[in-house]
Amino acid sequence: MSRRGRFITLEGGEGVGKTTNLALVADWLEARGLEVVRTREPGGTPRAEAIRALLLDPDGEEPLDDDAELLLVFAARAQHLARVIRPALARGAWVVSDRFTDATFAYQGGGRGIEASRIAALETFVQRGLEPDLTLLLDMPMGSAQQRLEGRLDRQGGERDRFERERADFFEAVRQAYLERAAVAPERVVVIDAAAGLEEVQQRLVECLEARVAPWL
Ligand SMILES: Nc1ncnc2c1ncn2[C@@H]1O[C@H](COP(=O)(O)OP(=O)(O)OP(=O)(O)O)[C@@H](O)[C@H]1O
Ligand SMILES: [Mg+2]
Repeated sequence: MSRRGRFITLEGGEGVGKTTNLALVADWLEARGLEVVRTREPGGTPRAEAIRALLLDPDGEEPLDDDAELLLVFAARAQHLARVIRPALARGAWVVSDRFTDATFAYQGGGRGIEASRIAALETFVQRGLEPDLTLLLDMPMGSAQQRLEGRLDRQGGERDRFERERADFFEAVRQAYLERAAVAPERVVVIDAAAGLEEVQQRLVECLEARVAPWL
């Protein structure tokens, strides 16, 4: 039987470069002959993507309750784990996900103010001990990330989703909650300064992959 694959997540607030850099990480792994599953949260399966749409849909007549939001995030995660992540890891594939549970501690915890212990209870329930082997946290001041986001919205169009409509203090709380997650799990979470130009960020990511992932191969 092949060895279990590894699970790598990219985290950070809006517009820090997660999606852009996921490609680099996945390409780096594939260049070493590994099967790589590229995925994202919330989502990653058709039903979980339907839950994502519910989560991102701007509030109209009926605002989404914070606990309902939290449970929807974990419902999508349960589906994603069952249908994509666990089967991939079991067959020896590597999984690279654009966001995972650190994002829940950051957005629903830091941003919405839900106690971390309540989120941790759901984490235990849904993940049953599975957690990322490595998390790359792209960190930058939220004001600059917002500017990047504006640039992307200008180029690609589209409306701001429920989270992108939040205020600056929400994003600052998200950032701080992410940094706290990194501080308590330094063996798992690597903080990358994402404020630098793309070339520099990618050079740092490659250095990190060489240092942290190459020894696993
Ligand atoms: N280091 C960088 N320097 C300058 N621009 C960057 C850098 N990294 C990414 N960008 C640009 O910033 C924008 C946001 O990047 P990207 O979409 O990868 O962020 P994201 O973290 O996935 O955002 P979201 O949270 O909205 O999914 C894109 O237009 C991207 O090209
Ligand atoms: Mg993205």
